[in-house]
Order: sequence, then C-alpha cells, then structure tokens
Amino acid sequence: MKIIRSPTSMAAWSEQLRRQGVKIGFVPTMGALHEGHRALIREARLRCDALVVSIFVNPTQFGPQEDLAKYPRTISQDRALCRKEDVDVSFEPTVEAMYPSGFQTMVTLPTIARRWEGEVRPHHFSGVATVVTKLFGVIRPQIALFGQKDFQQSALVRQLVKDLNLGVEIVVYPTVRETDGLSMSSRNIYLSPDDRIRATTLYKSLQAGAEIIRSGVSDGQAVQAAMAQVVEKEPTLTVDYLVVCDPHSLEPLSAVTSRVVLLGAVRIGSVRLIDNILTNPPRRSS
Ligand code: PAF
Repeated sequence: MKIIRSPTSMAAWSEQLRRQGVKIGFVPTMGALHEGHRALIREARLRCDALVVSIFVNPTQFGPQEDLAKYPRTISQDRALCRKEDVDVSFEPTVEAMYPSGFQTMVTLPTIARRWEGEVRPHHFSGVATVVTKLFGVIRPQIALFGQKDFQQSALVRQLVKDLNLGVEIVVYPTVRETDGLSMSSRNIYLSPDDRIRATTLYKSLQAGAEIIRSGVSDGQAVQAAMAQVVEKEPTLTVDYLVVCDPHSLEPLSAVTSRVVLLGAVRIGSVRLIDNILTNPPRRSS
C-alpha cells in the first residue's frame, strides 16, 4: 500500500490510472477506523479496480467547542487495517496542504443541511461539503462510499455531487452495529462503561418508532412520542432530536405514507451520539 501525503502526488497517481481506464474507488475517513469503516472498505474493494482511503481529521467541520484536539488518532492501526483490506493508497494530507494560507472558498448547502445536525452544529456541514469537494477534486474517483450512520451527511453529499456536477457515484452502505445495536463510531471510545450500556437506548428508541410505523400507526407525532418514551426512561440522556422525516428532503413529516427515515441524536455527558433507521408503513391490501 502506498502512503501519499501531498495532494499533488495524489492527483498525479489518480490521473495516471484514469488514463489507463482504471476505475478508482474512494472511502473518505477521519481515521480511528473501526468495523464500520472496514465494511465500507470491503464493499468499495468489490466495486473498483484501485482503492483510495483518505485519513484526514478535517478541522473545518469541527465547531470551536468541539472535540478536534482530542479526536482519536490511531494512524498505525488505521494503516494496518487498510493494508489488510488491500487498499492501494492511504491518502494522509496535512492540514496545511489541504488549507494552505490564503484558502478562502467554502461550500454551503442551504436547505438539506439546515435542520438536525445543521442546527446543533452550525458550521459542520459546510466543512464536510468543502473537504469532500476538495478530496473528490484531488482523487477524482468514479465511486465513493459513505456510511448510512451519518444519514444527513450522505444526503448532502448526494446533493453536492448533483448540484456541482462532480460526476462521482455515491454509494451509501448500511450502518454496522455492535451486537447490542449501538452503531459503530470512532467516538464510542469516549463512553464510560456505564454510559456505553445506556448508549443503546438511542437505537432502541428508533426501533420503537419503526415498530409502531410497521404496525400501522401513521401519525408523525405518535411515532415521535413512542421514540421519546423510550429515551425518557434513561434520565442521563438528553435528546437533541428524535424525528420522523422524508428520506430525501429530511423535512419532518406529520403523516407516514411511504418510506421514512427516523433520525435521532442524544447526548450522554459530553458524548453526542447520532443514529437512524429507514422504515416503511405496512403495505395496504387492495
Ligand atoms: O464521515 C466522516 O468521517 C467525515 O465527515 C468525512 C466524510 C471523512 C469528511 O471529513
């Protein structure tokens, strides 16, 4: 596996392969790789000829009070995982290379990024959209894979690719979970043993919402109440949002008539967890 740190060298490597007709696949990450990333990398490996994984803790997507400085950095283990999964290039640019002095342009996404994570983390999605656009520009992949766990991020990347004609096929891979249902995340290591047990409540509440939808309840408020009821049993959790939304626009729904996404975010102490479930109402018999 090659380790490339300079965007210019990365672009040259990609350009050479593209000229030979090689299909380049890409998995963007901030490192601290876990089984969720491994699943994305394996899926990407099956869909391309040459595979690039980026490992870059992107400062522009962290707010001033967020965990940029203490975000887990495990580069040796990350490289070992990538080597094992037959990744061709680990792209590891420095912050200075990605954002040299004089850097000015930021990408903004008005509608889809406004609610939910966008409300709680005002600059986050602009940072994500900017770095993804830059990484696509350097690597020029034909296909890129994102995890469903960051549902709103995947939705905005699709919008970004469409609006800016970036010409990258976006694949969203299902969330990988621990055996008790907690979605895998690099931030799970921040949880104390007790909080780690409590953390499963978020997924349980989303499951409760999905269950009543599948049983035929279509009132959005009733679904939200069912989710909230599960979280309320765990008073150490603070809810940022637990909502029923249209899976494309991410607008909240008052009635469930077709496929929906249940989005949730909670805080346990200083740790913030997000998760989601896609579900359908029961089919009407004719
Ligand atoms: O999902 C992530 O790890 C990050 O938001 C991404 C897409 C790598 C951009 O920094």
